[in-house]
Amino acid sequence: MLTRLQNNILLPKVLLGCYANGFSNLISGSQILRGFNETAGFSALSGDNLRSRPKSSLRNYQVVVAATREMGIGKDGKLPWRLPSDLKFFKELTVTTSDPEKKNVVVMGRKTRESIPLENRPLPGRLNVVLTRSQSSDITTGENVVICGNIPSTLELLAEVPYCFSTEKVFVIGGGQIFRETLNAPGCEAIHITEIETSFECDTFIPSIDLSCFQPWYSSKPLVENNVRFFHSCKEQ
Ligand SMILES: NC(=O)c1ccc[n+]([C@@H]2O[C@H](COP(=O)([O-])OP(=O)(O)OC[C@H]3O[C@@H](n4cnc5c(N)ncnc54)[C@H](OP(=O)(O)O)[C@@H]3O)[C@@H](O)[C@H]2O)c1
Repeated sequence: MLTRLQNNILLPKVLLGCYANGFSNLISGSQILRGFNETAGFSALSGDNLRSRPKSSLRNYQVVVAATREMGIGKDGKLPWRLPSDLKFFKELTVTTSDPEKKNVVVMGRKTRESIPLENRPLPGRLNVVLTRSQSSDITTGENVVICGNIPSTLELLAEVPYCFSTEKVFVIGGGQIFRETLNAPGCEAIHITEIETSFECDTFIPSIDLSCFQPWYSSKPLVENNVRFFHSCKEQ
């Protein structure tokens, strides 16, 4: 049950239903004002570059990534390492909200979606936004799955009703193509990076973090799992 909005955005009917049924009555006045500010000055949705868009019309986001020192993130369509504790960290970070009425959003490329085992997708407890340029995608949408055709229109959509009210944080979770457009961009508020210190052969890489824009905020103690040395850190803009 899909409705195609402007520029490749497919919305599950259920979410349109929320809006049509007075969903915004559920939120407080200050949130309404924030939503109006965020959506002020909206232009027609388009696929132009993220860096050229007025920031106020786009939802900010955080990046979550695990990368080697060489910024390798993947191999043969999968993660090169097996780190259950890092997956647990990822789940806690991306699921947890301060407002129990809201969900977080995870934004991913079509190939990253395909790398998630069938039984684990869509990622539960989060609104899953899948990016594809294909008009005939076979991705099953539903209450927790939205398909978008480009990144600016995704961030624009998430700044609008109902998502500006129903969702709390937006996490961009990969893969390489999506990180290349979003990492270091103006709307990227924070980068949560699992720094993998053990060497792995990779075929997918991301750009280095721009340390002139992002300052270290926290760093965990060194961890070891399955003979892999790593630690968590976060850098903020
Ligand atoms: N280490 C980590 O933290 C991490 C996290 C996530 C993924 N990964 C790894 O990264 C690899 C996958 O990354 P990848 O670069 O190959 O693929 P990806 O970024 O996950 O997905 C690429 C696909 O997304 C769609 N896409 C890309 N840019 C788009 C845009 N601007 N607008 C709309 N759609 C867009 C296209 O789908 P269509 O072809 O359908 O048009 C494209 O083929 C895997 O190895 C995975 O395991 C690692």
